[in-house]
Amino acid sequence: MVEVHADSLDLLRQRTSEKWVEYPPDVLPLFVAEMDYPLAPVVASAVTERIALSDTGYVASPLPVSEAFAGFAQRHWAWSIDPASVRTTTDVSVCIVESLRRVLRPGDGVVINPPVYPPFFHLVPEAGGTVVEVPLVDDRGRYSLDLEGIEAAFAAGARAFLLCNPQNPLGLVHSAASLAAVAELAAKYDVTVVSDEIHSLLTHSTATFTPFLSVSDAAREHGIAVTSASKAFNLAGLKCAIMVASSDRSLGYLDAMSVEVGWRTSILGLHATVAALTAGDDWLAGTVVALEESKRLLGELLASELPGVGFRAPDATYLAWLDFRKLGWGDDPSIRALDARVALNPGPDFGSQGRGFTRLNFACAPDVLTEAIRRLAAAR
Ligand SMILES: Cc1ncc(COP(=O)(O)O)c(C=O)c1O
Repeated sequence: MVEVHADSLDLLRQRTSEKWVEYPPDVLPLFVAEMDYPLAPVVASAVTERIALSDTGYVASPLPVSEAFAGFAQRHWAWSIDPASVRTTTDVSVCIVESLRRVLRPGDGVVINPPVYPPFFHLVPEAGGTVVEVPLVDDRGRYSLDLEGIEAAFAAGARAFLLCNPQNPLGLVHSAASLAAVAELAAKYDVTVVSDEIHSLLTHSTATFTPFLSVSDAAREHGIAVTSASKAFNLAGLKCAIMVASSDRSLGYLDAMSVEVGWRTSILGLHATVAALTAGDDWLAGTVVALEESKRLLGELLASELPGVGFRAPDATYLAWLDFRKLGWGDDPSIRALDARVALNPGPDFGSQGRGFTRLNFACAPDVLTEAIRRLAAAR
């Protein structure tokens, strides 16, 4: 397995992405979902080879990505996909909007489960729909899908369900049983499930990820999976994401999209994704180990330095959902955190359930994480 370590702050501050330009250099940026690790060498070589050849034109065919993803899905999740039923476009947000556009009539309801990735609140109206909130059930920090609430929303006419699995910001990996139950409900009420699985490649050893389309015939009939290598391999700027259908019904939606949707895939993104998904397993395994180590360190630091802060160790990805309510830092504790020179995501952006919470990105070096928690502790 490859050992993966974060770049130094000196190197990171030379990056020009949002994470590194939004705040002055005295702020530790632990907000936007990018990792501080260097690119996987196989990915970096694939992209630089294309640059050296000036091979920066239009994508010829999505097939290399489709086949690479089908191979990855089979190896990691025993999930069989027909590469002919995979389509690509720029990013997962566009996959979501374009899928919902095919399914919705103006104003149709789309169920989401806050606390959830904030852009879900914007992508639904962008696609012409109306957000229907069915919050996760929070049983003293043990979160799960509210199947009764979801059924009530479907019965009331919602036409689609935008599922987040694993769920950002909780790193919650939904159980196979709950996904199968969602699929049954989707079949009963003729709802389309768009399953955002972008964080699935970063599932920790504490959980097993189940692809929605693998759970049942009902899921295959009613689901569209949307995903990419971009969270796991830090490729957000390279613009290549994947939509998977496993039924004529869902494939019909993908094929009803404008041909332009596919043309927008980036050729550099395509080559990076193919390299990541075909030759990146060792690097990915090393990254998950680094994240699990960082998660453990975060738990220790919180317990020793900020014992009032609630923390449920995530089972996937590099995001921690921190409950500051006992500290009395108000609805948006990220304001006080920024005063302490640590940039976190405001909890309320994830829905009203996020009042008093923040999201922290722990895909960083141990010394950065340690310093960030010390700064927060000093601000109590
Ligand atoms: C759940 C989820 N979906 C989608 C995205 C955005 O993906 P993209 O940059 O491919 O649009 C993110 C980014 O963090 C995310 O967490």
